[in-house]
Amino acid sequence: MSASAQTSGPAIETAGLVKTFGVTRALDGVDLVVPAGTVYGLLGPNGAGKTTAVRILATLLRPDGGEAHVFGHDVVHAADEVRGRVSLTGQYASVDEDLTGTENLILLGRLLGHHRKAARDRAAQLLDAFGLAEAAGKQVKHYSGGMRRRIDIAASILNTPDLLFLDEPTTGLDPRSRNQVWDIVRAVVAQGTTVLLTTQYLDEADKLASRIAVIDKGRVIAEGTKGELKASVGAGSVHLRLREARQRPDAERVLRTALLAEVQREPDPLALTARLVARSATAADQAARALGELTRAGITVDNFSLGQPSLDEVFLALTGHATGHRDGTGRDPGGPGTGPGTKEGEVPA
Ligand SMILES: Nc1ncnc2c1ncn2[C@@H]1O[C@H](COP(=O)(O)OP(=O)(O)O)[C@@H](O)[C@H]1O
Ligand SMILES: [Mg+2]
Repeated sequence: MSASAQTSGPAIETAGLVKTFGVTRALDGVDLVVPAGTVYGLLGPNGAGKTTAVRILATLLRPDGGEAHVFGHDVVHAADEVRGRVSLTGQYASVDEDLTGTENLILLGRLLGHHRKAARDRAAQLLDAFGLAEAAGKQVKHYSGGMRRRIDIAASILNTPDLLFLDEPTTGLDPRSRNQVWDIVRAVVAQGTTVLLTTQYLDEADKLASRIAVIDKGRVIAEGTKGELKASVGAGSVHLRLREARQRPDAERVLRTALLAEVQREPDPLALTARLVARSATAADQAARALGELTRAGITVDNFSLGQPSLDEVFLALTGHATGHRDGTGRDPGGPGTGPGTKEGEVPA
């Protein structure tokens, strides 16, 4: 199938995509362009419309408005062509709990038309590559969450798809299993597959995706490379560590005046963080100026670093609410929610 992959043009292109469920506008006019050969992150909290978008693109659901093309094929009018190019894993169980890992992959391989030996070889190869060789003979119902997620992905790439949908592939996994899934995603992309990854985890999108669309309530509220997204929100943060704790109040004052920035005291009595405001001067220039002012004020700085804003800060700035907590209604995100690294209660002034 990869042989027929288009070498030019985006993997996915949607225009004004709308899907309603009763009064809920799950998708409210979504425009997306996903370049081929990359991981594209669709980042948003529970209920944002991620799965709905994926299901439409995978031809499992018809849109109520707008258009979507996958490798140039209309998902409604050329659904068969689209199906021949894509694979989906996530909230859909394709593996049978009562079968072993090997049995599942061989069965699915046979269903895809592979001969017995080819199916067996491919199953063994994938189980090995995904760290499941030891568990190959065990029934899937005895697999851990991380193993289960890996066999799901293995099942979805028996035939190398041109486009793979990964719908929240690491939700609920422990850090070690998440890392294993991330390695698998990287390996899949290295083989030339385009990946549309939905996630509620900011760090996951940051680690894997080249471009990110932030989606909230059925709308794309921001889109771009990671750097562009971060730049649209703020210039970054300056972290510094002083030689002497008694100089911290002075340092705080100097930074606030020099940068017109929000300055935070860290738990470490020697440390301060200043959040830079995006303006004409680059973050590096602002940081350099701050350092100069501190030196002139006789304050000794032992350590100084400039960091980009986290995607947590990006989401908060774009939506006014933290991921997974919508409008302070306290609605439970129904899972691991905000994910690792999300800071709560950090609403910008
Ligand atoms: N089959 C359905 N019937 C009714 N409402 C649905 C259905 N699928 C999704 N929704 C609603 O559409 C919105 C978007 O859901 P979904 O696409 O699953 O979001 P996400 O995957 O980002 O969590 C939510 O408000 C959800 O309750
Ligand atoms: Mg979903």
